[in-house]
Amino acid sequence: RATRLTMDRQGIRQLAAEKLKLPTSPYRFAGNLAELEAGAKAVGFPCFVKPTMSSSGHGQSTVKNKNGLAKAWRLGIEAGRGKTGKVIVEGKINFDYEITLLTVRHAAGISFCAPVGHIQIDGDYRESWQPQPMSKIALKKAQTIAKKIVSELCGKKGRGIFGCELFVKGNDVYFSEISPRPHDTGMVTMVSQTMSEMELHVRAILGLPIPEIPCRPGASVAILAEGDMKNPTYEGVENALKQPGTWVRIFGKPEVIKHRRMAVVLAIANTVAEARKKAKFAASKIKVAEG
Ligand SMILES: Nc1ncnc2c1ncn2[C@@H]1O[C@H](COP(=O)(O)OP(=O)(O)OP(=O)(O)O)[C@@H](O)[C@H]1O
Ligand SMILES: [Mg+2]
Repeated sequence: RATRLTMDRQGIRQLAAEKLKLPTSPYRFAGNLAELEAGAKAVGFPCFVKPTMSSSGHGQSTVKNKNGLAKAWRLGIEAGRGKTGKVIVEGKINFDYEITLLTVRHAAGISFCAPVGHIQIDGDYRESWQPQPMSKIALKKAQTIAKKIVSELCGKKGRGIFGCELFVKGNDVYFSEISPRPHDTGMVTMVSQTMSEMELHVRAILGLPIPEIPCRPGASVAILAEGDMKNPTYEGVENALKQPGTWVRIFGKPEVIKHRRMAVVLAIANTVAEARKKAKFAASKIKVAEG
């Protein structure tokens, strides 16, 4: 149920906003261009148009005014992976920052990781770090939202980790969407936590204890490949690894069509700012090229 609902932006949005009454961006669903025009007018410009089934920014666009809606409609419908024939149009939240709150439902209850801050470009994650500094009030609100939705999705028996995506503006927190599994922005936990998000997922499912989840400052940067490649190879990894506290994880994807996320650079340091600087520097040394 959690997988079905979270794959479908309509299912999860209606559950979050209408059933659980969580704060979200204003939204409408549209099954044709006329409905999209009416929906965009209702939520206001700029707005985000997204296929109801998609991820990693596929088929998504930001629309500044009415003239951009026809193109956004075509893009959204063509890229929709489930071919629902529908898009969601969302009003923009002018957030100060966005986070993923990794939330684990395990045998003894619900635990939270420290918030992961991240930067997305065109709906695709580029950088993340942990912990994201937050006011006490905002953190409490974020945890309350995540707890409500995770409890609802898990019911009595569901166990595992969820990546709850939230927008934060001042002390206001808005629910955006949620993954019923480890989250791409949470790859930073491979170095910033003693138990990574994958380990937490496995422990939860196996009924093993999750006593506490310590965290130290860490950062991750995604390595992207552009162009078509049949045999992608990685240049500069030895330079990327020269700084202490730096790692490279290569995904081993066999080919690239246009644009693909191929690896991630991870770094730890005394502060988040230093960790981000280190990870960005190391990432700048790596190039993916046709081998
Ligand atoms: N209503 C909104 N207001 C402001 N920013 C938004 C809104 N909707 C989406 N965004 C921006 O676009 C990003 C991607 O949107 P969303 O998470 O809905 O798509 P996605 O395709 O599931 O992306 P991913 O798979 O990377 O999580 C968000 O993380 C945020 O930066
Ligand atoms: Mg997302």
